[in-house]
Amino acid sequence: MCGIVGILGRGPVASGLLEALKRLEYRGYDSAGIATLEGGKLTRRRAEGKLKNLEALLAKEPLLGPIGIGHTRWATHGRPTENNAHPHATDKVAVVHNGIIENFRELREELRAKGHKFVTETDTEVIAHLITDAMQNGMKPVEAVAESLPRLKGAFALALLFNGEEDLLIGARQGAPLAVGYGDGEIYLGSDALALAPFTDTLTYLEDGDFVVLTRHSAEFRDARGLPVERRKIKTLASAFMVDKGNYRHFMAKEIHEQPEVVARTLAHYLDMSAGRVALPFDLPVDAKKLQRLTIAGCGTAYFAALTAKYWFERFARLAVDVEIGSEFRYRDVPLEEGGLTIVVSQSGETADTLASLRMAKACGQKTIAVCNVATSTMAREADVAAATLAGPEIGVASTKAFTCQLAVLAALALAFGRARGTLDEVNEARLVSELMALPGFMAEVLKHEMLVEKLAHDLSKVRDILYLGRGTSYPLALEGALKLKELSYVHAEGYAAGELKHGPIALIDEDMPVIILAPTDAVLDKTISNMQEVAARGGRLILICDPRQAQDFARDAEAVIVMPLMPPDFAALVYAIPVQLIAYHTAVLLGKDADQPRNLAKSVTVE
Ligand code: G6P
Repeated sequence: MCGIVGILGRGPVASGLLEALKRLEYRGYDSAGIATLEGGKLTRRRAEGKLKNLEALLAKEPLLGPIGIGHTRWATHGRPTENNAHPHATDKVAVVHNGIIENFRELREELRAKGHKFVTETDTEVIAHLITDAMQNGMKPVEAVAESLPRLKGAFALALLFNGEEDLLIGARQGAPLAVGYGDGEIYLGSDALALAPFTDTLTYLEDGDFVVLTRHSAEFRDARGLPVERRKIKTLASAFMVDKGNYRHFMAKEIHEQPEVVARTLAHYLDMSAGRVALPFDLPVDAKKLQRLTIAGCGTAYFAALTAKYWFERFARLAVDVEIGSEFRYRDVPLEEGGLTIVVSQSGETADTLASLRMAKACGQKTIAVCNVATSTMAREADVAAATLAGPEIGVASTKAFTCQLAVLAALALAFGRARGTLDEVNEARLVSELMALPGFMAEVLKHEMLVEKLAHDLSKVRDILYLGRGTSYPLALEGALKLKELSYVHAEGYAAGELKHGPIALIDEDMPVIILAPTDAVLDKTISNMQEVAARGGRLILICDPRQAQDFARDAEAVIVMPLMPPDFAALVYAIPVQLIAYHTAVLLGKDADQPRNLAKSVTVE
């Protein structure tokens, strides 16, 4: 989603704004712009496409002001043109905005009737005019903002720069993240800690409804009622992480390869490895024994992590689980039991629909756990318990290492519930903990055979459609495989529960259709093999991902086999995720697609 940055600096800020915007690129965007005050006067530069276009424009027509705002735009209202790019400005104020102003049509009509002229297709432009209108009525910037904000409906974050005001920036937050960063005689605004990492590690996150008035030496916070309020300064670790690609061509490749390490780090946080026990770093927020039903919600890849966890909670904790897509859950009239439990799963901790799901569960009197990768995110802060995934910053838009870390945390939680409910004995706990501990080693082994996947990707890059099939926890992984492939390579793919093959997708099978079958040796392997044979019998192109035993038996029927290590089936999904991710990555690269920033996608989806 859109990225926001603002700097009140001691010298020219354009290059700092660009640097911060580069660190926000991972969120996904299709145009960019900055504005500074030069001699007190608002001046803007904007460009379609990637930041290099804006950079080239700035090289030709530099901006030299010591105060400015910048933006990467992910189009919602209006095409990704230069004219629709932020900042949007009047002769009084420039604004950058992340999110959606839901009532922009009404506001635009009202302002048009008062003589305001609109020149873009965006919802953002109404913000500039609303504030301008208040200023034309004699209000000073802060007053005008306080007057205008309550009129804006929707989820958004804003940064505002005023003509002639060389020591003033205003930021506002309602539903989309925004942070203030403190420097030496400088002050910053940014969508997240990563954007501000080059400048400072001391931040304050705005709470929902807050706005903040910044000068070079002060930050005054006001709450939703406009009353002054104190907000805590925190130290962030973001700057400690090198956000570069290392020796890899793409962040995604680097992040796929980091999985053995970050999954191990995450597991270590939730397990007592020497005792062979689960050891959560927090108390469960409910009485696990009395819990009747668990709800797990998420979007995209996080939803598939939730779907996988359902199998674990049912099996190990004998707990009924509802898994919910955030955007559906939040608008259904779900009878959530007071005192029950909802777990939300989100890499960013900011996804609008997942956040709304968390708030809905809380409003129903449920306890909540947020499984998040960004420890300072809104979800992590609002849930009763923040269960961290320790994947480190994930820059590739398509989630990889955050996904396997989510699985690691959810697996540990399922075991903890099993123990607390008395459905998992000590012996089985120790066995499952040692299975979890073995996962990073298996992951590292699989990564050594990347070349084989690359070879397979050559063939897959020539086809139009691909089917992924799996049973048990391989079913959500089949869905994830198909999602990864389509989002990265734009090749159409579908994931199915293998048993559903004969209820429809079998009609698609012919000699042109590759069918990728995820077949770890588990309790349903025989059934999966039958489904595989149904594909072979119809001339489909079989690609098997399985262990050496199955590979030996079925190699003849398959066009390709990716051989996985022999391992217990319970948590094999974390290891089988790796070839699934690599297939998507290499297919995309071979097709010349941008694996880190697929078209139209955003990393942190803060709109509905
Ligand atoms: C976007 C990303 C996905 C991610 C989903 C949910 O669609 O491209 O990779 O799975 O959002 O994001 P979250 O931050 O809530 O995990």
